[in-house]
Amino acid sequence: MTVADVSGEPDRRFSVVPPRRARTRRYAMTPPTYFAVEYAINPWMDVSTPVDTERAVAQWEGLHRTYLDLGHSVEVVAPEPGLPDMVYAANGGLIIGDRAVVARFKYPQRAAEASAYARWMTDLGYSPVTTRHRNEGQGDLLPVGSMILAGTGFRTDAEAHDEIAAAFGRRVETLTLVDPRFYHLDTALAVLDDTTVAYHPPAFTAASRERLRALFPAAIEVGSADAHAFGLNAVSDGRHVVYPRAATGFGEQLRAAGFVPVGVDLSELLKGGGSVKCCTLELYG
Ligand code: ARG
Repeated sequence: MTVADVSGEPDRRFSVVPPRRARTRRYAMTPPTYFAVEYAINPWMDVSTPVDTERAVAQWEGLHRTYLDLGHSVEVVAPEPGLPDMVYAANGGLIIGDRAVVARFKYPQRAAEASAYARWMTDLGYSPVTTRHRNEGQGDLLPVGSMILAGTGFRTDAEAHDEIAAAFGRRVETLTLVDPRFYHLDTALAVLDDTTVAYHPPAFTAASRERLRALFPAAIEVGSADAHAFGLNAVSDGRHVVYPRAATGFGEQLRAAGFVPVGVDLSELLKGGGSVKCCTLELYG
């Protein structure tokens, strides 16, 4: 394995890795026009740290451009004043096919985002429903192949997992998070393709780690330094993996596994406890 390969092609010299194929994706993103850290609802947020909103916008535009350059489409959601976390579009809900479930947020500071995302879904032609229990959308609900991995422990209620299974008619696998720094599933686990995931084992209970090992024997296990650099908060099209570039070790692991790592800098958005995946809601076909 080498990091000196700048060709953009995966390094296949030292191991036999399967070919990784990209599928064109449809994403939604909300610009950080009103982004700020005005309250602290996760350990990454510190209200005394100054936030450069202009810089956040520039970094967000870089991510937006990256998706377009990879050939994907991006729906832009209108940001609303007074909702500084709305930039974390992944939390808006879960959309698969013609079905849309809108979030029910844990913290009152984010509650009004649910109606904003519901309006956006309605404008797009969906008839969004919500859950009786709390669900924070794709922060905790990650489709992989025909199943949905569902996080709980900090934000989404385990009871909502059953509601999600019923709403989409899919098998849902509950995974329990234990470390407050990894408070959403998408901070500790990245879906790379229909059968491959990467995750940080210490973020999960022993039982969930065992479940993950059984479900994904070929998973990429990511270490502390990369996980704490938010490396797993990544978005994959099956070949290209857009990830926070500070997670250099994860980039090497991806390349060794045949993926094409695409590092981006979203350091300003990290002050709110989010990065690439948090800023991206995928509309699954
Ligand atoms: N400040 C936001 C919160 O704590 C960050 C959300 C990050 N989103 C994500 N999908 N992990 O709710």
